[in-house]
Amino acid sequence: MEISAMKIIVTGAASGMGRYFALNLAKQGASVMASDLDADGLASLAEEASDVAGALVTTIANVAVEDDVIRMVQETVDAFGTVNGLVNNAGIFRDGLLVKLDKETKKARKMSLKKWQSVIDVDLTGPFLCTREVAAHMVESGTKPGVIVNISSVSRHGNMGQSNYSAAKAGLVADTKLWGAELARHGIRVGVIAPGFIDTPILQGMRPEMLEKMLLPVPLRRLGTPHEIFQGIKFIIECDYFTGRCIDIDGGCVI
Ligand SMILES: NC(=O)c1ccc[n+]([C@@H]2O[C@H](COP(=O)([O-])OP(=O)(O)OC[C@H]3O[C@@H](n4cnc5c(N)ncnc54)[C@H](O)[C@@H]3O)[C@@H](O)[C@H]2O)c1
Repeated sequence: MEISAMKIIVTGAASGMGRYFALNLAKQGASVMASDLDADGLASLAEEASDVAGALVTTIANVAVEDDVIRMVQETVDAFGTVNGLVNNAGIFRDGLLVKLDKETKKARKMSLKKWQSVIDVDLTGPFLCTREVAAHMVESGTKPGVIVNISSVSRHGNMGQSNYSAAKAGLVADTKLWGAELARHGIRVGVIAPGFIDTPILQGMRPEMLEKMLLPVPLRRLGTPHEIFQGIKFIIECDYFTGRCIDIDGGCVI
């Protein structure tokens, strides 16, 4: 599918990778609905996108809230006539060990249910709601073809301290397989990218020694760039024989 034919929602578009994806899809001629919780970030993105080849509009929406997602999809249809693409990019992490022994009290400190649930809500329920609503619109309106790209993580393999994040990102890869199979009959392809450590605001503020340690399992010994992940998105959109599969773009990282 050609990028210029896309009427595509990018979630988490105010910052980091989502911002790069939204801006560059619009530069390549797509009509982009950039959505996020961060109103200031969206406003500065809209300003930056004022002279793109395609179009970029913004909306504030929480991917974990069903009514927000339904409204976001409707606003996209109102703005562009339909929707035929989605990048499920919005994500958070809230790390912690499952249990940790407090040396003084000799009690186990546990990952709270709240911490677990907050990541599952945004990183797994969010893509479920967004994919469901975009697919429902496409099926009802007869819009085809379409492409959905999910953003997972190298943590999908199971990363210590990330019970919540690893479960959500692994779940997203599993759902990509089954959504690819379920939605093929409607002309919708679904792919997923699992990035390694990518240079975005999420990593800024990290101590240099922590960063160095983080790069030890990465054979290419550097962070990836949003552009390198965008190359994967382009491939998934443009290759009409790709569906239900995961592309790992992680510098060869082994967790
Ligand atoms: N940066 C990395 O090293 C890395 C590695 C692997 C995977 N990822 C994944 O890539 C995606 C983008 O990460 P990033 O590094 O660009 O992060 P980022 O923090 O720079 O951007 C994430 C964006 O998502 C938005 N967001 C958070 N919760 C939201 C919600 N409930 N509804 C809507 N928007 C919400 C934030 O406001 C923010 O603008 C995430 O899914 C992340 O898990 C990142």
